[in-house]
Amino acid sequence: MGAPGKDGQRDGREEQGNSLTDVHGSPYVRIGASVLTDVSVGDDDPVGLDRAHELLDAGDGRRLERFGARVVDRPAPAATGPRLQPDAWDEADLRFERERGWESRGAPVEPWTVDADGLTLELRPTEAGQVGWFPEHAALWPWLRGAVAAPPGAEVLHLFGYTGATSLVLARAGARVTHVDASRPAVAWARRNAELSGLADAPIRWIVDDAASFLRREARRGRRYGGLVLDPPSFGHGGPGRRWELEAGIDDLLEACLALAEPDAFVLLTAHTTGWDGRRLSVALERTSEQRIARLDSGELRLDAQSGAVLSLGAFARLELAA
Ligand SMILES: C[S@@+](CC[C@H](N)C(=O)[O-])C[C@H]1O[C@@H](n2cnc3c(N)ncnc32)[C@H](O)[C@@H]1O
Repeated sequence: MGAPGKDGQRDGREEQGNSLTDVHGSPYVRIGASVLTDVSVGDDDPVGLDRAHELLDAGDGRRLERFGARVVDRPAPAATGPRLQPDAWDEADLRFERERGWESRGAPVEPWTVDADGLTLELRPTEAGQVGWFPEHAALWPWLRGAVAAPPGAEVLHLFGYTGATSLVLARAGARVTHVDASRPAVAWARRNAELSGLADAPIRWIVDDAASFLRREARRGRRYGGLVLDPPSFGHGGPGRRWELEAGIDDLLEACLALAEPDAFVLLTAHTTGWDGRRLSVALERTSEQRIARLDSGELRLDAQSGAVLSLGAFARLELAA
């Protein structure tokens, strides 16, 4: 795909008014045709998650986390090392095993809430062993808040929005958000989180739809967005009777997203798919972007445990287009 306007990056020149400054203190490095940086998000706690989440330990294929008042022990294929604090695991209130489902120590297996940076999120043990929130995404909230800060009122499309935490962060920062998810229960859960967080009247359109179908409709309607945020699953619903795979579908998805982007839009792409590190996500974004790129960086998503264990949970790439 042609990429007019990227030559300034290809020949390594910094362009006036479009300087490739650093992000999170990490200088950009050039790898091939892309302008990339490997920013590790998760080293610090840039948002107020203390009360909401803490990874206590990880190892032997499992993760031990405190979500608010509850300690949860569940599978984590990425936890390939040994557990570093074996005794801590006896404290789990809830434990999930793929064969047996959820088991609770004392407290009934029912919803509870956490305060995540001022948002009230309802968590529930799901059949898939999730609790309804991926806390590693919170490391990207400060960047998103900055991206929507000026000018206020940016229209942001959030695809695969799940239970809505990131949509609420965007709306609270002043964006007008379109939240799309193919699962009706997930959208209902997101709306509940909006109510609990006092954001029931925030400017958020809640849409139950297949992401690709919605993008096609928005293109026909001539809609444009100042920001696009997407967290495509490795495998997902692909419309009636169809299965979507990130490996095969990512380029089409990104092309459809970028076709809706305003000239100075931002794009945040995250993924949790084996073989897709930040660099590869970044290259995919650059390949599918026809527009002029002002900034492009990437990194890994990970949680650092109190015990010293590290849990890799995917990667991100973020793009700012030049007006
Ligand atoms: C947050 S994403 C994936 C989370 C994370 N990336 C992972 O792999 O665990 C999951 C959400 O995407 C939604 N989803 C899956 N396929 C979709 C599609 N084709 N269109 C819109 N939403 C979809 C699911 O309903 C779910 O809420």
